[in-house]
Amino acid sequence: MAIDRVFDVLAIVAIVLPSIAMAEEFIVGDGIGWTIGFDYQDWAKGKDFLVGDKLVFQYPVGAHNVFKVNGTGFQNCIAPPQSEALTSGNDTITLATPGRKWYICGVGKHCELGGQKLFITVQRKSLAPTMAPSQALSYTSSVNEITAPIYQLLMAVTVTIASMVFL
Ligand SMILES: *[C@@H]1O[C@H](CO)[C@@H](O)[C@H](O)[C@H]1NC(C)=O
Ligand SMILES: *[C@@H]1O[C@H](CO)[C@@H](O)[C@H](O)[C@H]1NC(C)=O
Repeated sequence: MAIDRVFDVLAIVAIVLPSIAMAEEFIVGDGIGWTIGFDYQDWAKGKDFLVGDKLVFQYPVGAHNVFKVNGTGFQNCIAPPQSEALTSGNDTITLATPGRKWYICGVGKHCELGGQKLFITVQRKSLAPTMAPSQALSYTSSVNEITAPIYQLLMAVTVTIASMVFL
Protein backbone atom coordinates (compact mmCIF):
# COMPACT_ATOMS: atom_id res chain seq x y z
CA MET A 1 0.00 0.00 0.00
CA ALA A 2 2.77 2.41 0.89
CA ILE A 3 4.45 1.54 -2.38
CA ASP A 4 1.19 2.19 -4.24
CA ARG A 5 1.02 5.60 -2.68
CA VAL A 6 4.54 6.38 -3.79
CA PHE A 7 3.63 5.51 -7.35
CA ASP A 8 0.50 7.63 -7.11
CA VAL A 9 2.60 10.55 -5.98
CA LEU A 10 5.16 10.03 -8.71
CA ALA A 11 2.41 9.75 -11.28
CA ILE A 12 0.94 13.05 -10.21
CA VAL A 13 4.35 14.70 -10.14
CA ALA A 14 4.86 13.52 -13.70
CA ILE A 15 1.53 15.01 -14.73
CA VAL A 16 1.78 18.22 -12.76
CA LEU A 17 5.45 19.06 -13.12
CA PRO A 18 5.52 19.98 -16.82
CA SER A 19 2.66 22.44 -16.45
CA ILE A 20 4.37 24.16 -13.54
CA ALA A 21 7.86 24.22 -14.93
CA MET A 22 7.57 24.83 -18.63
CA ALA A 23 6.06 27.78 -20.42
CA GLU A 24 6.07 26.95 -24.08
CA GLU A 25 7.14 29.29 -26.82
CA PHE A 26 5.25 28.84 -30.09
CA ILE A 27 6.78 30.18 -33.28
CA VAL A 28 3.62 31.06 -35.21
CA GLY A 29 3.72 29.13 -38.49
CA ASP A 30 6.90 27.35 -37.35
CA GLY A 31 9.51 27.55 -40.15
CA ILE A 32 7.12 29.45 -42.43
CA GLY A 33 6.66 32.25 -39.91
CA TRP A 34 4.01 34.99 -40.15
CA THR A 35 3.04 35.48 -43.76
CA ILE A 36 0.25 35.29 -46.35
CA GLY A 37 -1.11 32.14 -47.90
CA PHE A 38 -0.66 29.92 -44.85
CA ASP A 39 -3.42 28.20 -42.89
CA TYR A 40 -2.86 29.39 -39.32
CA GLN A 41 -5.95 27.60 -38.02
CA ASP A 42 -4.51 24.38 -39.28
CA TRP A 43 -1.22 25.25 -37.60
CA ALA A 44 -2.99 25.95 -34.29
CA LYS A 45 -5.00 22.72 -34.44
CA GLY A 46 -4.03 20.24 -31.75
CA LYS A 47 -1.79 22.68 -29.89
CA ASP A 48 -2.49 23.45 -26.25
CA PHE A 49 -1.99 27.11 -25.52
CA LEU A 50 -1.71 27.71 -21.78
CA VAL A 51 -1.50 30.87 -19.74
CA GLY A 52 2.18 31.85 -19.54
CA ASP A 53 3.04 30.47 -22.97
CA LYS A 54 4.37 32.77 -25.65
CA LEU A 55 3.55 33.37 -29.28
CA VAL A 56 6.39 34.60 -31.47
CA PHE A 57 5.47 36.19 -34.81
CA GLN A 58 8.47 36.15 -37.15
CA TYR A 59 8.62 37.99 -40.49
CA PRO A 60 10.89 40.39 -42.40
CA VAL A 61 10.54 43.84 -40.82
CA GLY A 62 8.18 46.01 -42.90
CA ALA A 63 6.66 43.09 -44.80
CA HIS A 64 3.99 42.38 -42.18
CA ASN A 65 2.88 43.42 -38.72
CA VAL A 66 0.78 42.04 -35.89
CA PHE A 67 -2.37 43.44 -34.35
CA LYS A 68 -4.25 41.91 -31.46
CA VAL A 69 -7.93 42.36 -32.28
CA ASN A 70 -11.31 41.23 -31.03
CA GLY A 71 -13.59 38.71 -32.75
CA THR A 72 -15.16 41.40 -34.93
CA GLY A 73 -11.79 42.72 -36.04
CA PHE A 74 -10.72 39.17 -36.83
CA GLN A 75 -13.85 38.36 -38.81
CA ASN A 76 -13.79 41.55 -40.86
CA CYS A 77 -10.02 42.15 -40.91
CA ILE A 78 -10.28 45.53 -39.22
CA ALA A 79 -6.93 46.70 -37.88
CA PRO A 80 -6.82 49.02 -34.86
CA PRO A 81 -4.83 52.30 -35.05
CA GLN A 82 -1.33 51.87 -36.45
CA SER A 83 0.11 52.83 -33.06
CA GLU A 84 -1.02 49.46 -31.69
CA ALA A 85 0.88 47.44 -34.28
CA LEU A 86 3.75 45.17 -33.37
CA THR A 87 6.42 45.64 -36.03
CA SER A 88 9.73 44.18 -34.79
CA GLY A 89 9.67 41.11 -37.04
CA ASN A 90 10.12 38.98 -33.94
CA ASP A 91 7.11 39.99 -31.92
CA THR A 92 6.68 38.04 -28.73
CA ILE A 93 3.32 37.98 -27.03
CA THR A 94 2.92 36.35 -23.62
CA LEU A 95 -0.47 34.74 -23.24
CA ALA A 96 -1.36 36.33 -19.92
CA THR A 97 -5.03 35.43 -19.60
CA PRO A 98 -7.22 32.51 -20.60
CA GLY A 99 -9.82 32.87 -23.33
CA ARG A 100 -10.04 33.50 -27.04
CA LYS A 101 -7.33 35.58 -28.72
CA TRP A 102 -7.30 36.95 -32.25
CA TYR A 103 -4.38 38.31 -34.26
CA ILE A 104 -4.23 39.73 -37.77
CA CYS A 105 -1.73 41.35 -40.10
CA GLY A 106 -2.67 44.95 -40.83
CA VAL A 107 -0.56 45.41 -43.95
CA GLY A 108 -2.46 45.84 -47.24
CA LYS A 109 -5.06 43.13 -47.71
CA HIS A 110 -2.94 40.41 -46.12
CA CYS A 111 -5.75 39.52 -43.72
CA GLU A 112 -8.70 39.67 -46.16
CA LEU A 113 -7.05 38.12 -49.18
CA GLY A 114 -3.97 36.42 -47.76
CA GLY A 115 -5.64 34.76 -44.79
CA GLN A 116 -2.97 36.18 -42.48
CA LYS A 117 -4.95 35.82 -39.28
CA LEU A 118 -4.74 33.59 -36.25
CA PHE A 119 -7.35 32.61 -33.69
CA ILE A 120 -6.45 30.61 -30.59
CA THR A 121 -8.03 29.68 -27.27
CA VAL A 122 -5.78 29.98 -24.24
CA GLN A 123 -6.44 27.59 -21.38
CA ARG A 124 -5.73 27.87 -17.71
CA LYS A 125 -2.88 25.83 -16.36
CA SER A 126 -4.09 22.68 -14.65
CA LEU A 127 -3.00 23.95 -11.24
CA ALA A 128 -3.80 27.63 -11.67
CA PRO A 129 -4.83 29.28 -8.39
CA THR A 130 -8.46 29.48 -9.57
CA MET A 131 -8.70 25.70 -9.65
CA ALA A 132 -9.20 23.96 -6.33
CA PRO A 133 -6.86 21.06 -5.46
CA SER A 134 -9.83 18.68 -5.48
CA GLN A 135 -10.50 19.56 -9.13
CA ALA A 136 -6.86 19.19 -10.05
CA LEU A 137 -6.69 15.80 -8.38
CA SER A 138 -9.81 14.51 -10.06
CA TYR A 139 -7.75 14.15 -13.24
CA THR A 140 -6.32 10.90 -11.89
CA SER A 141 -8.75 8.28 -10.77
CA SER A 142 -6.24 6.34 -8.70
CA VAL A 143 -5.89 9.10 -6.14
CA ASN A 144 -9.48 9.57 -5.07
CA GLU A 145 -8.63 8.47 -1.57
CA ILE A 146 -5.73 10.86 -1.27
CA THR A 147 -5.87 12.96 1.88
CA ALA A 148 -4.92 16.53 2.56
CA PRO A 149 -1.57 15.75 4.25
CA ILE A 150 -0.60 13.59 1.30
CA TYR A 151 -1.55 16.37 -1.06
CA GLN A 152 0.71 18.73 0.87
CA LEU A 153 3.50 16.19 0.76
CA LEU A 154 2.93 15.86 -2.95
CA MET A 155 3.29 19.60 -3.43
CA ALA A 156 6.46 19.63 -1.36
CA VAL A 157 7.88 16.76 -3.41
CA THR A 158 6.88 18.49 -6.63
CA VAL A 159 8.52 21.74 -5.64
CA THR A 160 11.64 19.95 -4.46
CA ILE A 161 11.96 17.97 -7.66
CA ALA A 162 11.20 21.04 -9.72
CA SER A 163 13.98 23.00 -8.03
CA MET A 164 16.44 20.09 -8.41
CA VAL A 165 15.66 19.53 -12.08
CA PHE A 166 15.14 23.03 -13.35
CA LEU A 167 17.47 25.28 -11.34
C1 LIG B 1 -13.73 45.46 -31.32
O1 LIG B 1 -12.66 46.37 -31.44
C2 LIG B 1 -13.01 47.59 -32.09
C3 LIG B 1 -11.77 48.46 -32.18
O2 LIG B 1 -10.63 47.76 -32.48
C4 LIG B 1 -14.09 48.31 -31.31
O3 LIG B 1 -14.48 49.48 -31.99
C5 LIG B 1 -15.28 47.40 -31.15
O4 LIG B 1 -16.22 48.02 -30.32
C6 LIG B 1 -14.87 46.07 -30.54
N1 LIG B 1 -16.01 45.18 -30.53
C7 LIG B 1 -16.35 44.50 -29.47
C8 LIG B 1 -17.53 43.60 -29.64
O5 LIG B 1 -15.75 44.57 -28.40
C1 LIG C 1 12.95 36.30 -31.00
O1 LIG C 1 12.30 36.38 -29.75
C2 LIG C 1 12.50 35.23 -28.96
C3 LIG C 1 11.61 35.34 -27.75
O2 LIG C 1 11.59 36.63 -27.22
C4 LIG C 1 13.96 35.09 -28.61
O3 LIG C 1 14.15 33.95 -27.81
C5 LIG C 1 14.75 34.96 -29.90
O4 LIG C 1 16.13 34.95 -29.61
C6 LIG C 1 14.44 36.13 -30.84
N1 LIG C 1 15.05 35.84 -32.11
C7 LIG C 1 15.66 36.77 -32.84
C8 LIG C 1 16.21 36.34 -34.16
O5 LIG C 1 15.77 37.94 -32.46
